[in-house]
Amino acid sequence: MIATVYAVLFYVATLLLVVGVGMKVWKYATTPVPLKIVVSPAPRTRRGVVLRMFREVIFFESLFRSNKWIWIFAVLFHWGMLIVLLRHLRYFTQPVWWWVDLLQPIGRLMAFVMLAGLLGLWARRIFQQRIRYISNPSDHLMLVLLLAIAGSGTLMTYVTRTDVIAVKSYFLGLFRFQIGELPLDPILLTHLGLVALLMIIFPISKLMHAPGMFFAPSRTQVDNAREKRHISKWARNLPPLPEGIPKKEEG
Ligand code: HEM
Repeated sequence: MIATVYAVLFYVATLLLVVGVGMKVWKYATTPVPLKIVVSPAPRTRRGVVLRMFREVIFFESLFRSNKWIWIFAVLFHWGMLIVLLRHLRYFTQPVWWWVDLLQPIGRLMAFVMLAGLLGLWARRIFQQRIRYISNPSDHLMLVLLLAIAGSGTLMTYVTRTDVIAVKSYFLGLFRFQIGELPLDPILLTHLGLVALLMIIFPISKLMHAPGMFFAPSRTQVDNAREKRHISKWARNLPPLPEGIPKKEEG
């Protein structure tokens, strides 16, 4: 019975996640960008923009420049979570890829790195008066949710244990639309329930900053307004421009 409830929950959560994120990304991609609004100093070539985005996504460059404490906690959390999630691939692949196998020992430790990052980010929202004032309930909620997911996962890995083989065959079964046995440990059920909740609210949460940053014109535009006239896509079908103004759109 519980296995069926969780199966339905995960099917619904996956559908909402994929459709929700897809719709949001479509909206980001089709929102008109009438002006050049790069954050300067900004790269003046497409290659430069790609390099800057790379440094931003991998090293959080602009955060490093603005606040070293948030940067440290953000790096601990995001990098920790990435490796934890890559380690989780063993539940969804058979045979397990060799590099996922290699990640297993370090992945276990990354649970603590992720937790340390989350606790630091949350402490900042609670103890720094200026930040507490501008924090919404949802800012706290997302941190608490991630903390609870990471906390319950770490409990399973280091304290209560669960039948990971059974968890794996249950999830591999769901890919074939077969509902198998799910271990009924309360910590596992909590972990999975919170993960499903995260998947459901992801498209309407601030976590959309992850895909969203690839559509932020202030970061993705080329700073070439002096060389090329910028015309937004939606403006293409407007009446023709007066003689002498170049029509080429760039960046
Ligand atoms: C359907 C998706 C997921 C399943 C089936 C799942 C299952 C599990 C299981 C069975 C464990 C215990 C591992 C062990 O005893 O060796 C675990 C640990 C953990 N999980 Fe998840 N989990 C899922 C999603 C997530 C997500 C989305 C996050 C983070 C946002 C997360 C964070 C953690 C952490 C931090 C640990 C402890 C470290 C580790 O063992 O890797 N899990 N998870």
